Amino acid sequence: MKRSTLILLKTLTWAACLGPAILLTYQAVTNTLGPDPTANIELTTGYNTLLLLILSLAITPLRKFVPRLGWLIKFRRLLGLFAFFYGTLHMLAYVALYAGFNVSAMLDDIAKRKFITMGAATWLLLLPLAATSTNWAIRKLGGKNWNRLHKLVYVAAVCGIVHYWWQVKPGVLAPMNLTISLAVLLALRPVLVWWQRRRVRPVAA
Ligand code: HEM
Repeated sequence: MKRSTLILLKTLTWAACLGPAILLTYQAVTNTLGPDPTANIELTTGYNTLLLLILSLAITPLRKFVPRLGWLIKFRRLLGLFAFFYGTLHMLAYVALYAGFNVSAMLDDIAKRKFITMGAATWLLLLPLAATSTNWAIRKLGGKNWNRLHKLVYVAAVCGIVHYWWQVKPGVLAPMNLTISLAVLLALRPVLVWWQRRRVRPVAA
């Protein structure tokens, strides 16, 4: 891919990823966050965390099954870090707007409301992944250990989906699209392993 095309695509990706945060900031400044501003901020940041996480997970199967899309790898870290960015905004919005920085209320909430427990667990799973996303960390950990650690992203995505289902009212099916997307990506993992083995296996004499 030409360097100029790559720069254009990266710029568009940055713009798309920053879009929800810019919109929330604009709505906050113009007082148009809607009837429940806290919920608007929390739901927008939570949804985008999960969406970006799942999009980042889609990159590996896409580039493995379609070799021409190998360049997509240059976008995986970006999407993963933006997922962590929204996850952190989401967590901070909870700390500030729901819990009012009251540590004991937060701990109580984490202990008593299972969807909050799951949200906190999800964010904690994302933390070491974001912290080890630099080239320096990859070199320090070694490729094998880094890959092993970063498998946690699948656990985080599943926990995020569970958190989403536990958060919606019974009968609400809003989490279904992301759930199906993640299920497809998880189902593709063994297929991918089989596909790669098939490609590298020497032809029998
Ligand atoms: C300390 C960590 C977290 C806390 C305390 C937390 C808390 C919350 C709360 C209170 C809501 C509901 C807002 C409302 O109904 O008004 C919510 C929604 C949500 N959260 Fe979290 N969360 C956390 C981490 C995460 C993470 C890491 C993800 C994604 C991987 C996530 C994804 C979502 C989603 C998808 C929703 C629903 C959005 C929607 O309905 O459109 N949360 N969270």
